[in-house]
Amino acid sequence: MDINNSYITSGPVGIFDSGYGGLTILENIRKLLPEYDYIYLGDNARTPYGTRSFDVVYQYTLECVNKLFEMGCHLVILACNTASAKALRSIQQLDLPQIDPGRRVLGVIRPTVEVLDQVTKTKHVGIFATPGTVQSGSYPIEANKIFPDIRITAEACPMWVPLIENNEHLSEGAAYFVQQNIKSLLEKDTEIDSIILGCTHYPLMIPTIRRFLPPHIGIVSQGEIVARSLKLYMQRHPEMDAKCMKNGQTSYFTTESTEKFINSASIFMNKQITATRISF
Ligand code: DGL
Repeated sequence: MDINNSYITSGPVGIFDSGYGGLTILENIRKLLPEYDYIYLGDNARTPYGTRSFDVVYQYTLECVNKLFEMGCHLVILACNTASAKALRSIQQLDLPQIDPGRRVLGVIRPTVEVLDQVTKTKHVGIFATPGTVQSGSYPIEANKIFPDIRITAEACPMWVPLIENNEHLSEGAAYFVQQNIKSLLEKDTEIDSIILGCTHYPLMIPTIRRFLPPHIGIVSQGEIVARSLKLYMQRHPEMDAKCMKNGQTSYFTTESTEKFINSASIFMNKQITATRISF
């Protein structure tokens, strides 16, 4: 693909998710790194990704990454576990060298796995994630590379994203599914002392999860972890830091209707925003 704006030497940091979940990551990133400019892109017209095949998630994610590059981003964060699990590696290894070797795409799984040793004493960790992320095996595979002594047990939660996107995550209907998923996970491994929310939508489910999760089990959500990891990345890569604009501004783009995006985004952030619709 041709990057028509290759003359642009700096741009915003791109934050991508299949829908609204990445807003939980963006909020944490902005808290820690308020000086940068950000573009958020939600592929709301094609969400959820969590139940789609590898090929489709890869194709959709690549289209969105290219869109963010066209908009001037030199660095894009896949603030979506499903896209990180199913598309990141191919994009990094196959596509980036052809598109522009100077641009970077980072995911959320690696930074999460890097802190696993800090969140468990028993070395038994549970993960709630979308069916796509669980089927990819990305969490156990990545964890095994760094902490082979930590056992990861995953539970797919196909109902959670639709419940959250429909603002039903605090309802009794949601409680039913959450209770089932917790029971199923803890039956698979009784020594779990920490649970990773391996989907960027799931922080909104924390009040419901906490109702049913035994109190000694901790909940780890990714926002702060990814934000800290990005800060370190910028420190380690001054050449990329120099390509990231710093006016403290954020703009929001969606592939669905802007009205829908603006209404639903307020569930994920305690403020009103404006958004622009884009198509491919
Ligand atoms: N937010 C995405 C993730 O972190 C999942 C949403 C979806 O299924 O599209 O996995």
